[in-house]
Amino acid sequence: MKVVLAYSGGLDTTVSIALLKEKFNAEVITFTADVGQKDDFVEIENKAYKAGATKHVFMDLKQEFADNYIKPCIKMNCLYEDKYPLGTALARPLIAKYAVLVAKKEGADAIAHGSTSKGNDQVRFDLTIMAEAPDKEILTPVRKFKLTREWEIKYALEKGLPVSIEHKKYSIDDNLWSRSIEGGPLDDESNFPEEDAFEWTVSPEKAPDSPEIHKISFKNGEPVALDDEKMNLVDLVKMLNVIGGRNGFGRIDMIESRVVGIKSREVYEAPAALILIESHKDLERMVLTPKEYRFKRLMDNEWSDLVYSGLWYEPLRSELQALGEELNKYVEGDVWVKLYKGSLMIIGRKSRYSLYRKDIADYNKGWYPTEDEARGFIKLWGNHSINAKLIREKF
Ligand code: ARG
Repeated sequence: MKVVLAYSGGLDTTVSIALLKEKFNAEVITFTADVGQKDDFVEIENKAYKAGATKHVFMDLKQEFADNYIKPCIKMNCLYEDKYPLGTALARPLIAKYAVLVAKKEGADAIAHGSTSKGNDQVRFDLTIMAEAPDKEILTPVRKFKLTREWEIKYALEKGLPVSIEHKKYSIDDNLWSRSIEGGPLDDESNFPEEDAFEWTVSPEKAPDSPEIHKISFKNGEPVALDDEKMNLVDLVKMLNVIGGRNGFGRIDMIESRVVGIKSREVYEAPAALILIESHKDLERMVLTPKEYRFKRLMDNEWSDLVYSGLWYEPLRSELQALGEELNKYVEGDVWVKLYKGSLMIIGRKSRYSLYRKDIADYNKGWYPTEDEARGFIKLWGNHSINAKLIREKF
């Protein structure tokens, strides 16, 4: 049988190449996607062949990642449990979709991945493969044989597989949108993260003593320019990761509810994601009606939950997104952000769709309701509540 393995070059997937050959008698084609992770893709290809792959396929998917995954994420203010901007969760369905395409092209019978049975990633990979290629088998050696790191290292040494056996303090997964850091000392939920966990952000104490101010411009809810310079989303995200990171902004530390019934301690770096989502939400506050704004918050939450849980193919995900597109038609304008020693402040905004009217809001002049209008409004507005309070007090 022929199998396409989603290959990262790490220990799990390198051991998987050998196990797929040994236990499943498979011919292994490895597939690696560039979604903006800081990896050496030539080295990964060499590793794949050394571990026994018969063919390696590499694809640069950064632009598609930005256009079809990160962009909707910004429009839906994607923060899982109010904090995590979903980097890993967004990249998995994209990687799996292309692994399926490669499998179809190569005439493979199965698709394999290196996820364990404890995480969210298996859900995202499996469900994408099931949606894109219901007839193909899913092979998961690490999950099937419940492999531990120690076993994998021993096996790799025995078989002469190209793995680095140096003890890795953390388990890292990074892409354009966020860097996930798990494991090691972080598994103790009260341990403060050590500086060596971070790569994209300096510690706020070491950030420059003067603030940095930038202008981000949006159209249809999409960030299109930085400081008046039109930019492609891939470059814009990269740039904001650098800008936020050098100011010590973008660190997240949280206890997170996985889909598989486990709470986990997660640390992330995501400067661009947090800057863009906060700025986008700020514009929404100004251009949407209160009804729209409040309803959009519910939609955003539901959308983020679906994506986190691996349900990218759930119809409600795209339906919510379609209504989100509609509401984003008015999310146009500029937002000014100030970054300073680990903090982000939104310090100004401007939009032609703004519902804010200085002439009306001004306490000193302009339109004033009359005393009677105000009293009449308040009386009817609060009537249900006051009535209920007074009646219930009686007994
Ligand atoms: N908890 C995050 C998520 O589920 C990050 C997972 C990181 N994955 C990994 N293989 N290290 O999206």
